[in-house]
Formats: sequence, C-alpha cells, structure tokens
Amino acid sequence: MAKGLMSVPINLPGTTYNRAINASKFIREKLQELVRERKKEVLAKKDHVNVDDLDFLDGLLKATIEGGDIISETELVGKIVTLLFAAFHTTSNTITFLMAHLTEYPDVYEKVLQEQLEIARSKEKGEQLNWKDIQKMKYSWNVVCESMRVKTPVFGGFREASTDIHYGGYTVPKGWKVHWSVNSTHMDPVHFPEPERFDPSRFEEKQGRGVYVPFGS
Ligand code: HEM
Repeated sequence: MAKGLMSVPINLPGTTYNRAINASKFIREKLQELVRERKKEVLAKKDHVNVDDLDFLDGLLKATIEGGDIISETELVGKIVTLLFAAFHTTSNTITFLMAHLTEYPDVYEKVLQEQLEIARSKEKGEQLNWKDIQKMKYSWNVVCESMRVKTPVFGGFREASTDIHYGGYTVPKGWKVHWSVNSTHMDPVHFPEPERFDPSRFEEKQGRGVYVPFGS
C-alpha cells in the first residue's frame, strides 16, 4: 500500500497503483474484523473500564458508542489505516537513519551513550522511563533532530494554492497543485550553514518557524 502512495494512478492489473488498492482492501478487511471483535469487548465492559487501560482503538470505539455510533465502521477503519500508515515508515526510517548516523559519528554516539547511561543510573532497578526522563534527553534529541534534518523521513507533501501566490518573481496561480519540499528547506545554507555537515549542536538554538519542518509546519 505504501509503495502505491506516489505512483502513476493507472488502475490496471499489474500496476503499482492497482497492487496498492488491492493491498488497501485487504488491510481494511482485516481491520474490519478486528473492529467488530473489539466493539463487542468494549460494549461488554464499557461502564466499568479504566480509561488509562484503553488503547487507541478501544478509546475510539468507546467514544463512538457513547456518541451514538457517530463514526461509521468504515470511517473507523480508515482512521486506523491512516495512523498505522503515518506512524510506521516515518518512525522506522528515523530510527534506521539515527542508527546509521551514530555508527558514522563515534563522538556523537559516545555523548548519546553517556546521556542515556546517566538517566539509566538515576532509575531504580526495573523502574520505567517517564516523561521527565525523556525531557532530560536533550543531547539525544538534538541528534535525532539533526538526523531528521539531513535524512528527512517524509520528503514533502502536496497542497493546492487557495489564492494566487507571488514569490521570488514567480506566480503560482490559484488552484495549482504545489509540492512543499522538506529536503530543500533543511538543506538551505541560509538557515543551516554548511548543510551537509552533521552537527547536532545546531539544535541548541531554537529554530525559526518554517525552518525545520520534518513534521510539516
Ligand atoms: C519521525 C516520525 C514522524 C514524522 C517525521 C512524521 C511526519 C509527518 C508529516 C511530514 C506529516 C504531514 C504534515 C503536513 O501535511 O503538513 C505528517 C502527518 C501526520 N502524521 Fe506524522 N510523522 C511521524 C510520526 C507519526 C506518528 C508516530 C503518528 C501517529 C501515531 C503520526 C500521525 C500523523 C497523522 C495522523 C498525520 C496527518 C495529520 C493531518 O493530515 O492533519 N505521525 N506526519
């Protein structure tokens, strides 16, 4: 399904687009079965359930049932597909490139390791990480940010000009499709001097709006 996202939209057997549509149908059918099963479970225990124990699907189902089936089953499945799709490749790409960068820059790796060890040492045996610990991971986060800057997980997205846009001597007429590019923004030497250089210290300063956009603006 993911491979067909940016494909030529010709729906003939054997095309990437056609395979993506079939894959999407397959996933939706599987999720539909899951939604029906879960709905029964949620209905059975809806009045005596601890909200903290709910996962995303349970929560969505509970809200839907309480609101009088405000979201159709098809829509629910659509939301789950969107989340799985939006969360999976982005996160796995980010982790993969992060590991590659840590391998490539041993000095960076060492500093990340020390920061992580310091946090690990502050925990009791078996105690889990919490939000405060994550906030202490300042250097590690700068490394993740720099990794997403140079190897952006999402290369951009499509928009439609809602009005005539005049920029840099060009006009984009209202109604035209535009593509906003993460990569060219992240490689702009005006905002990131020597953009090819891997340097997590760039993120010690807060970036201006629209300058660092791995998640969009
Ligand atoms: C490193 C990880 C991630 C990156 C780089 C990333 C990047 C992006 C980008 C570039 C967009 C498009 C924004 C736009 O069109 O303006 C987007 C949208 C979205 N992302 Fe992520 N994402 C990541 C992880 C996740 C995760 C883990 C989830 C869910 C659990 C998620 C859920 C979504 C959703 C639901 C949208 C659509 C929002 C909308 O259209 O209003 N993303 N993401």
